[in-house]
Amino acid sequence: MDAALARQIAEERFGLSVARLTELGGNEDLNYLAVTQEGARYVVKASATPRSALEAQSAALDFLTEAVATFDVPSPRLTMDGEAVVEIDGTHPFVRVISFVPGDMSVGSRRIVPGVGTALGSVSGEMVAKLASFSHPGLVEGGDWDLREAPRVVAGDPSLGSLLAASLERTARLALPVQVIHGDITEDNVVLGEDSDFAGVIDFGDLAPSWAVAELAVTLTSLLAHDGPVMAEVLDAVAAFHARRPLALDEARAIWPLVVRRALVLEAGAARVLAGDPDNAYAIARRPFERLVLARALALPYDEAELLMLDAVALLPRREAPLVRMFAGLGDTPELDLAVTSPMHDAGAWLTRPNPDDLPECVTRYGAPQLVPDAATGVVPRSIPLGMGAVLAPGKAVFAPAHALVRSAEPGAMVLALVDGGWVNILGVDPEVEAGETVPAGTVIGSTSGAVWVQLCAAPISPPRYVQPGLEDRWARICPDPSVLFGRDPAPASGPTADELSEARDAVVATVQEHYYERPPRIERGWRHHLFDDHGRGYLDMVNNVAILGHGEPRVADAVSRQLRLLNTNSRFNYAAIVEFSQALARRCPPGLDQVFLVNSGSEAVDLAIRIARAATGRSDIVAITEAYHGWTVGSDAISTSIGDNPRALDTRPSWVKLLPTPNAFRGAHRGADAGRYAPEAAEFIAALPEAPAALVCEPIFGNGGGILLPHGYLRDVYAAIRARGGLCVSDEVQVGYGRLGEHFWGFEQQEVVPDVIAVAKAMGNGHPLGAVITTRDIASRFAVEGSFFSSAGGSPVSCVVGSAVLRAMEEDGLQERARVVGLELADGLRALAARHPRLGAVHGMGLYLGVEIGGPDSPDADGAREICDALLDEGVIVQPTGDHKNVLKIKPPLTLDLPSVARFLAALDHVLTMSDARARL
Ligand SMILES: Cc1ncc(COP(=O)(O)O)c(C=O)c1O
Repeated sequence: MDAALARQIAEERFGLSVARLTELGGNEDLNYLAVTQEGARYVVKASATPRSALEAQSAALDFLTEAVATFDVPSPRLTMDGEAVVEIDGTHPFVRVISFVPGDMSVGSRRIVPGVGTALGSVSGEMVAKLASFSHPGLVEGGDWDLREAPRVVAGDPSLGSLLAASLERTARLALPVQVIHGDITEDNVVLGEDSDFAGVIDFGDLAPSWAVAELAVTLTSLLAHDGPVMAEVLDAVAAFHARRPLALDEARAIWPLVVRRALVLEAGAARVLAGDPDNAYAIARRPFERLVLARALALPYDEAELLMLDAVALLPRREAPLVRMFAGLGDTPELDLAVTSPMHDAGAWLTRPNPDDLPECVTRYGAPQLVPDAATGVVPRSIPLGMGAVLAPGKAVFAPAHALVRSAEPGAMVLALVDGGWVNILGVDPEVEAGETVPAGTVIGSTSGAVWVQLCAAPISPPRYVQPGLEDRWARICPDPSVLFGRDPAPASGPTADELSEARDAVVATVQEHYYERPPRIERGWRHHLFDDHGRGYLDMVNNVAILGHGEPRVADAVSRQLRLLNTNSRFNYAAIVEFSQALARRCPPGLDQVFLVNSGSEAVDLAIRIARAATGRSDIVAITEAYHGWTVGSDAISTSIGDNPRALDTRPSWVKLLPTPNAFRGAHRGADAGRYAPEAAEFIAALPEAPAALVCEPIFGNGGGILLPHGYLRDVYAAIRARGGLCVSDEVQVGYGRLGEHFWGFEQQEVVPDVIAVAKAMGNGHPLGAVITTRDIASRFAVEGSFFSSAGGSPVSCVVGSAVLRAMEEDGLQERARVVGLELADGLRALAARHPRLGAVHGMGLYLGVEIGGPDSPDADGAREICDALLDEGVIVQPTGDHKNVLKIKPPLTLDLPSVARFLAALDHVLTMSDARARL
């Protein structure tokens, strides 16, 4: 049915006066949206489904229009002869017209839409509740989407067989009622009003008999395709379903096995479609989602899922009766602090779980997030303990916490069923009672044999000992706080959440000091190139160029701590640290550049470099380059021209700043081989300046633009032009210098030039405020015309020992060479990704200062870059956009970055781009 025929049928047979007709997508049917002269909207559908099944669908629509007030369904329109279906020739012979149900689709959103779980769960539950009394002879039994048919549908794929077997095993003994269900209450088929306050269901093509609870499983499976707090929405959907159509215990227990089954059926179905029709665009677009959904369904262990489902439908008993302590004399036993901020995790110790044999007597805290070794791997770690542990002397008496039946008792492991409700799992205790015995509260049931673990649970289902963050409130009901069993007060509430903290920050830290991300995680620890939030989730840090040695570096911490105890004063005193560090810095510089000024930041260094150049030349003008950032002080800000940082930058520069266009070979006026024209044009500009300039200040690699290399020979020619006018050449190495480029320690080496003045900071202090200006003896002495120079904290003993410790550690760890090797691997990997993902453009930079363009030279895609960075955060990777167009991913991690982390980063970026492309094709 082409558009012309659709219009003709709509007008001649269904009596519509069609003003506009547009094609809609469709899985099996051909669909057109028809808007009438009066503005009414209809869908003209041509289907290959048997007529009897279409009549059943129409009957269901009529039935539901009558029966349901809480969501809308399309109403079938009859032909002028009173028929529901018109027959035509072709592959889709049956044409119907139904009313159009307006609303928004949540399916295309990357992060799950808040409230969508409740909205879809309600529709799903209401649908089942109402369809329970619907039947029609035209309904077809045993279709591929009926989850009862999963063994047949999945049969052809042996890789899915064992997964299906595990799911079948979980439901084998469950009694699941059967009725007519819609069969596809998913985000594809439910439209929502604003704030999810309205819902309409739009596709009844899968209406058929099946298990009632299969309706819910299908709905839940569709939610798994999003990022964000998906499980919370899934559980809200379960609760909302249950509120409309109460689930029996067996049905609740079947939910997750059926979610897995639905995911397997989707996977098998897609594989079959693509085997027969490898170019099927619809199937190709859905593929990444099916894979993701299956992976997520399988990632949740069945027991864990069952506990969550039973809790969501309030089928877990809540114990009200009090409990007594199982251990005496632990009220004051020290708590073992395993939180992210605990000092016991310092210096990378968190990478090994503590061995109880090495610990003194102690008790752990229930429910408080811990830093666990998995946090470095990119998974969201199971960091929340649902029980309490203790290291106790062996042989300590253990008492029954309540009147209980001993369910199992083996050396080291016991389970008690409490008579008034609840279960206790105990590890590390040698029982003195036997399975089957009943024990009154307070009787001795055994003695400690080693490290103890005690966990309460509301059901006789083996609970997870640790869970991922996100569902703490639910788990607190399922596995309540056992502190009372240790004779201790309940675990205190945790501190402010990331959102609360960020809100408090906005109230007191002037918001012009932006923060990364709209809803930033609360980061409280770092180790090398990893950052950790308060819940123990690890993030790969691809942005912290300042922490060149990585975070939490013990050699720097030790140097600071020792020096603070020893002496911290100003540089007018005579102490060794300033000499040692200044000598070390000068040794790193070309001959002749051996006079060091120590300051506290890059801005200060650039500002001081401007003052020195002006004093040394007796002039005031500075030549700078557009799209650069040099700092926040009055002087360094004056020569900062990046409109990405300051939208007014180009209009508000003072008259002493003379701007050269950025020699951007990728996006500027001269591109590629033409980029050689920038240098002569710049030289001409400098030669023609009416006032001879004091200096040129520029970066040797275009840092702010995302690591774009200057054209070959550019600085050689421009430095010559400046010097020809008697000016000085200042290299701002704050961002790109100090080893990060791998091949070179300083950026100017890449351009084969030697500046007169070097300004450096950032990496020098590994995050401690430390900057320097390094110049020649002659230039430094000419600065003396302005009197003496003094900075209260610049060059302090503490700053100097930090500087020396950083240089020593860089050498000990071979970090510059590492930047070269790892940087090459990373750049290669990025280029390989760019070859597969058209949204990735050029890869700039060298070593571990790289930039990846999102979009082309004339189509910078800031929204795309932002979206990629946000999605990467959900994958546990921190990257930010840079450049005037904010479209370049700047990649400048600590130089500790290793090859496994490179692989993790590339995999995360690949995943994010794959999902984003697939979403765009939906
Ligand atoms: C090239 C360059 N120069 C100077 C600065 C200013 O350094 P700071 O932030 O330490 O004041 C920066 C900061 O980003 C920079 O990138």
